[in-house]
Amino acid sequence: IPVDPFDYVVFGGNGDLAERKLLPALYHRDRDGQIPAESRIIGASRSDLSDESFRQFAAEALTKHVKPEDIHQTSLDRFLSRLHYRTVEAQSDAGWDELRALLDEAGQERIRAFYLAVGPSLFGPIAERISGKGLANEHARLVVEKPVGRDLESAHVLNEMIGQHFREEQIFRIDHYLGKETVQNLMALRFANALYEPIWNSTHIDHVQITVGESVGLEGRAGYYDKAGALRDMVQNHILQLVCLVALEPPSAMDADALRDEKLKVLRALKPIDTSNVESLIVRGQYKAGASSGAAVKSYADDLGSHDSDTETFVAIKAEIGNWRWAGVPFYLRTGKRLSERMSEIVVTFRPIPHNIFQNVAGNIVQNQLVMRLQPNEGVKQWLMIKDPGPGGMRLKHVPLDMTFAESFMTRNPDAYERLLMDVIRGNQTLFMRRDEVEAAWEWIDPILKAWDEKSVRPQGYTAGTWGPSSSVALIERDGRTWHEPD
Ligand code: BG6
Repeated sequence: IPVDPFDYVVFGGNGDLAERKLLPALYHRDRDGQIPAESRIIGASRSDLSDESFRQFAAEALTKHVKPEDIHQTSLDRFLSRLHYRTVEAQSDAGWDELRALLDEAGQERIRAFYLAVGPSLFGPIAERISGKGLANEHARLVVEKPVGRDLESAHVLNEMIGQHFREEQIFRIDHYLGKETVQNLMALRFANALYEPIWNSTHIDHVQITVGESVGLEGRAGYYDKAGALRDMVQNHILQLVCLVALEPPSAMDADALRDEKLKVLRALKPIDTSNVESLIVRGQYKAGASSGAAVKSYADDLGSHDSDTETFVAIKAEIGNWRWAGVPFYLRTGKRLSERMSEIVVTFRPIPHNIFQNVAGNIVQNQLVMRLQPNEGVKQWLMIKDPGPGGMRLKHVPLDMTFAESFMTRNPDAYERLLMDVIRGNQTLFMRRDEVEAAWEWIDPILKAWDEKSVRPQGYTAGTWGPSSSVALIERDGRTWHEPD
């Protein structure tokens, strides 16, 4: 869908997120002809850069983070010519008049999106200045990155601060997992087919597994990560969002508030985990030295340069949703750094068949599984039992019905940010988190953090390059189930 001309102002414009994600994503949208001719991308930060040096920074970012075959000179030149830069101080008036003058050149009707690719401590001060300097007109949008807070109270304070200057309809809280292709496809599978929805409940589903595995370690983000840990960094946002999309009731329309109302109900129905049950429902881990992609890697403590951190780099959780659809269906969730591989998937395992007529036939009957792979190799496989083809008589075989996107559609898989950045311009909040959702997610997370603290739950060590502490295996195996082995 074509969009109206816009100005994207990226605070933290020469930072890591802009370099790795935002500039490459905007380049791809521009290359595909989705960015109207007059639109501009304006980098802003306290660094003293000229338009020219920002263009240089962007050109280098694209060389590093866009495949060479996707870079064409004409597209590149056009993209770079859209870039501007203003030196702006978040905490003082310096530079704001210059930024306003640049925006005003386009008039008051142009869509203005302010992307805060900065730490949360600057959300309030920047939102206040955008508004105080008269930049927040009715066409303005504010985009904030996670983390929105580090607990319920701080999230509330942040939401209040930005809410003083922008209406909720203007605020786009990014969770980039919602822009991933497979996550979108989960909605299509559930609500554009008659097949799944009637069996999408505790009568037919045995359990759900969500794994978000990363092979990387700290990636130079020690300062942030050591204060956050896996529960805050991945579970509060990405993983709970995935839980919501698997578990939500059919919304009445694919409309932002209809969808978010249903997600909110899921978050509020999560059964509490607190001091009474934290040790039996959650495994907390931290990586030790090991190997990743064939190379020796250091422990978390050595990466951090300190041996007294109790920050978790891994969690496995047995969660449950207390409502009629899901009562009794465990949702096993796990995520971690320095795991065996970068692999994220949602696995829905259906209940066993009620009666086996193939007692004397070769081949074990395996429970049906729907495996939605987020990365790498995005795709969906529905595992089924069939007769092994051929004349050898009746033999059963477990096979996947494969809907792997790249092969079926032969298209490039766009990065999540490409869709989300353009949704901001379209004013479509469907894939963004509403204030009450973020706070409801913290409401579930806070008692876990408190319980760890009160019970002094220290992370268990796991060797880098494995799938986490052995107690994570025990967490699921004591229920007679196993973690899905990626194929
Ligand atoms: C971010 C986390 O939100 O998501 C990072 O802060 C994590 O710690 C990243 O590495 C994972 O994103 P993706 O898209 O690579 O799975």
